[in-house]
Amino acid sequence: MAEQRKRRAEPAYVEPKLFEIEVARDLEPQLRQLPYPIWTENKAKLIAKYIFLFELITKHGTYIDGFAGPQQPDRPEMWAAKLVLEIEPQWLRHFYLFEKSKAGCDLLRFLKASQAATRDREVEVFCGDFNRRVDSILSSRRIGEKEATFCLLDQRTFECHWSTVKKLASYKTGKSNKFELFYFLAGWWYRRAVTAVKRDSVLENWWGRNDWPDLRQKKLLTVKDEMVARFKSELGYVSAKAWPILDKSGRDMYFMIHATDYLGAPALMERAYSEAVQPAERAVQQSLFPAQEKF
Ligand SMILES: C[S@@+](CC[C@H](N)C(=O)[O-])C[C@H]1O[C@@H](n2cnc3c(N)ncnc32)[C@H](O)[C@@H]1O
Repeated sequence: MAEQRKRRAEPAYVEPKLFEIEVARDLEPQLRQLPYPIWTENKAKLIAKYIFLFELITKHGTYIDGFAGPQQPDRPEMWAAKLVLEIEPQWLRHFYLFEKSKAGCDLLRFLKASQAATRDREVEVFCGDFNRRVDSILSSRRIGEKEATFCLLDQRTFECHWSTVKKLASYKTGKSNKFELFYFLAGWWYRRAVTAVKRDSVLENWWGRNDWPDLRQKKLLTVKDEMVARFKSELGYVSAKAWPILDKSGRDMYFMIHATDYLGAPALMERAYSEAVQPAERAVQQSLFPAQEKF
């Protein structure tokens, strides 16, 4: 007994520390809180402004739009594919526009025909399910490793499969920055939409993980935070930020998750975000949404 007590009292042997293991630092750039929110009718403008600012740096680029048909055909000024095609200077050279509905496809073909034909610009319209049809451009390897590539995933709710997002994120094999992704997550109506889904495969494909049944219980902000974290942990993006896009009554209509490997990109998005709001709207929006401290 006395022997046992003596043994317990001996101090535990501690290996001497030879070096400190470096903890990977989160490189996520921090931004100030946004002074005004952006409304849903400006979301296409936000995308086009951001690509314009980015293009000033790269002087080239490819644009992929997975869900490219217009949400409101009578409001062409809100149509992302149209605004991006019209960016000047015309440094973007390749446009791959996908759409499932026949009506949306016809409008995209009309949009393509309305563009002045130039030899060094390619606009292709793909009709059908983006989740499958995207393979035709990815497997052909027609996008170069160093090509700056922007991919808009403006789904309504659950149309974009997680396996598709993964395919896009893993396209670049070398050290070049991955495709920039603009992934739209449903906002305040998410809970209503998720409970209305009849086929389990819809949620399974969208979430792409075994815990998809939990989605029916999760709050929107939890789903948003998990999604943002997955762009970094599963897909390896250096930065992923959820930019809120509000409807006129001030509710989160969407979160636009912007995933990028370029550390300067969030600051460009911040600038695009503030420039996409017109001066006249700012006065109103500022009074509705006073500036907060942090973002
Ligand atoms: C939210 S709207 C896109 C809005 C558009 N980005 C704009 O700026 O107006 C979604 C579009 O995706 C289309 N769509 C739905 N499921 C699809 C799929 N699996 N593949 C391709 N397009 C799809 C819809 O027909 C609709 O035109």
